[in-house]
Amino acid sequence: MSESKGQFNSNFGFIMASVGSAVGLGNLWGFPYKMGSNGGFAFLILYLLMLCMVGFTIMLGEFAVGRSTGKAPIEAFRELNSKFLIVGYMAVLAGFGILAFYMTLGAYAMKYFAANFAAIFTHSGIFEATDTAAYFTDFVGNGGQVVLFMAIFCVLNMIIVMGGVAGGIERFTTIAMPALFIMLIIVIIRVLTLDGSGGGLEFMFKPNMEVFKGSGWIGVLGTAGGQMFFSLSLGMGAIITYGSYLSKKESLVKNAFIVPLADTAVALMAGLAVMPACFAFNLEPAGGPGLMFITLQQVFNDMGSAGPIFGFIFYFLVFIAAITSSISVIESSASAIIDARIRKGKSYNRKPIVALVIAIVFCLNLPTSLDALGAGGLPQPLGFCWLDFYDLLAEGILMPLGSLILGIFVGYVMKIDWLKNECESEGQKFSLAGFWTATFKVTAPIGMVFILLGQIDGFFGLGWFS
Ligand code: PFF
Repeated sequence: MSESKGQFNSNFGFIMASVGSAVGLGNLWGFPYKMGSNGGFAFLILYLLMLCMVGFTIMLGEFAVGRSTGKAPIEAFRELNSKFLIVGYMAVLAGFGILAFYMTLGAYAMKYFAANFAAIFTHSGIFEATDTAAYFTDFVGNGGQVVLFMAIFCVLNMIIVMGGVAGGIERFTTIAMPALFIMLIIVIIRVLTLDGSGGGLEFMFKPNMEVFKGSGWIGVLGTAGGQMFFSLSLGMGAIITYGSYLSKKESLVKNAFIVPLADTAVALMAGLAVMPACFAFNLEPAGGPGLMFITLQQVFNDMGSAGPIFGFIFYFLVFIAAITSSISVIESSASAIIDARIRKGKSYNRKPIVALVIAIVFCLNLPTSLDALGAGGLPQPLGFCWLDFYDLLAEGILMPLGSLILGIFVGYVMKIDWLKNECESEGQKFSLAGFWTATFKVTAPIGMVFILLGQIDGFFGLGWFS
């Protein structure tokens, strides 16, 4: 049995799904800390510069590749120019690389919202842990429990994606993303009314123009670029796939601005929620899992009787951010398989294909879940913990390289007239033609080479950028 692959019902649904893909852990635990420790407002300026030179452009390129073909990455490139088929494979592989650790992080978020929820009624459990670092270490070291939560997270992803584009993904994200936004506002109001929260605002926003002196800005620009392109979900197939489900009536140019700007706004809001909270309780700001699950849980523990409620709201928000990102990549992989079957003239049934993708992703996550972030005693590939190893393959190499080639592909192989035609397909305006020409041909490829080198430098600690 074959059904149609589906389409978003509305442009709003498309935006919610795409922003849902973009807004993830990168916004919550990456951006605020990187901004704070890399020059504050100065970092923001360089981040926005990267957005203008590279981000909007690759986003538009991915939307156009998807919508012009109506296909997910692999078949989309086969149709446009089979010499670039490899870029489609790279995107799908990168998607699996990202999902290979992201489901485990989704599991952590679920554990924490469940534990905070339970504490609303008993005020015990996670709140009795005087040492939230020890609590976290104990939890991640409990492989059975992590795998259980990871399995639940996988099943939830499966249910949503099996529902289809409009009936599953759009329906879920049009409720979940506004809810995330409201939860974020609630947390921000609570945090900004805590005594001593001003230090966090200072940490995050105070401009440190020193970063522009000497060569320091190169490293900051690399950090900003890497953060920007991961945060926008570029190079992993998700944006191409969502673009393929957008009606020809909608404006690609407009959407290529709205999605990155909304993503940046949420990243800044996350900073308002997270950094002032650390400072109000005199906790050292951090990044990554330590910030999310140790420092912030400490904040909730210190908040008194309302702590579990805010803890629950916050970790539920983290869970929503994670699942609206992961479903976009699951969809992309499933869609790639469906397209391959269509090309071969075979029938397809969406549900078993989604189940197959989830089964693969579950297996890939087993080492990540059992590895306890490197403390679980598993063999460490190339000396990296499993999370970092998968991340290196995807975010370190495949995604930036794929995005670099995609930029060159649109700018030089398909050419700007092709882009213009796609953007104007039903009479919409292709605004800012000069900007797109300059960015596709010059700034995006240069920016992507720079980001790629920055990623490799960061993963292997080569010190090129310092
Ligand atoms: N844009 C996401 C983030 O900032 O966390 C990146 C992402 C990760 C997207 C994992 C999709 C995904 F499955």
